[in-house]
Amino acid sequence: MAIPKASLLAILGCLCFCSSVLAARELNDDLSMVARHESWMLQYGRVYKDAAEKASKFEVFKANAGFIDSFNAGNHKFWLGINQFADITNKEFKATKTNKGFISNKVRAPTGFSYENVSFDALPASIDWRTKGAVTPVKDQGQCGCCWAFSAVAATEGIVKLSTGKLVSLSEQELVDCDVHGEDQGCEGGLMDDAFKFIISNGGLTQESSYPYDAEDGKCKSGSKSAGTIKSYEDVPANNEGALMKAVANQPVSVAVDGGDMTFQFYSGGVMTGSCGTDLDHGIAAIGYGVTSDGTKYWLMKNSWGTSWGENGFLRMEKDIADKKGMCGLAMEPSYPTA
Ligand SMILES: *[C@@H]1O[C@H](CO)[C@@H](O)[C@H](O)[C@H]1NC(C)=O
Repeated sequence: MAIPKASLLAILGCLCFCSSVLAARELNDDLSMVARHESWMLQYGRVYKDAAEKASKFEVFKANAGFIDSFNAGNHKFWLGINQFADITNKEFKATKTNKGFISNKVRAPTGFSYENVSFDALPASIDWRTKGAVTPVKDQGQCGCCWAFSAVAATEGIVKLSTGKLVSLSEQELVDCDVHGEDQGCEGGLMDDAFKFIISNGGLTQESSYPYDAEDGKCKSGSKSAGTIKSYEDVPANNEGALMKAVANQPVSVAVDGGDMTFQFYSGGVMTGSCGTDLDHGIAAIGYGVTSDGTKYWLMKNSWGTSWGENGFLRMEKDIADKKGMCGLAMEPSYPTA
């Protein structure tokens, strides 16, 4: 039987490919990496100022993609993906995305903990505050280290919804511009507890649409009308995931984590487990908890890096781990506003 011409060509082509020297294979890998970088640039609308910048960004992209590919080839409960941070180094990522302000907050002034005597038997096995209408859509802090404002606002939006029945998106920019005393320094970092103190003394926060986010430090615009108020705030007892569960069962809670690892930078889905730092540098919000079908307990977190990061902007982190500080230190400094 005659071999059709097309197949013969295909077979020869294959043999040629297989016998190609290693150097050529490396070149192929590089070519497909160039294609990945090009399509990523299109997807994220990235434009470089010249060929030199493009070449150096390509090297960063290639290193990040290599890290992601080899991580995903391993056996993990979560996976990484190429996202908007693919052409920045982990050092650059830490410098713009996270916040060094938490370091000085190791000792917190004691507050009460209203949920202290809540019985564990009374807690739901899982909760997702999104399904109860207490979580606004995921926001994006952009190139500004004011995660603390997004974290505090997410918890505030939650308690305002639970106490008034109305979900209102509140202004992070008002915190960035106006809450500039003490630890809170706009894009240079801040603390959620200090944000709550400001919201209390300010008589609440303005609606997001009236005081929109512009991702940089600005002049405080006074005279805005408050759209959501809180009475006070409380700290969840430190290093106690059980106490955190009692709080999250009742409302969204601000949480500080170490968000500087590469696994955090490129988290794309699943339940984050395994090793993680505990140098708190990022503020997020715990908006629920649950258990996967394979029995992995997790916290459901809202982040402020847009919807292309993580699970549409959300993140799941392992719950009730052996280390009392919690995954990435999440149990170290949680707090929430009260109505
Ligand atoms: C919890 O119970 C203890 C003992 O009855 C009591 O002293 C404490 O005030 C209670 N805490 C709260 C927050 O109600």
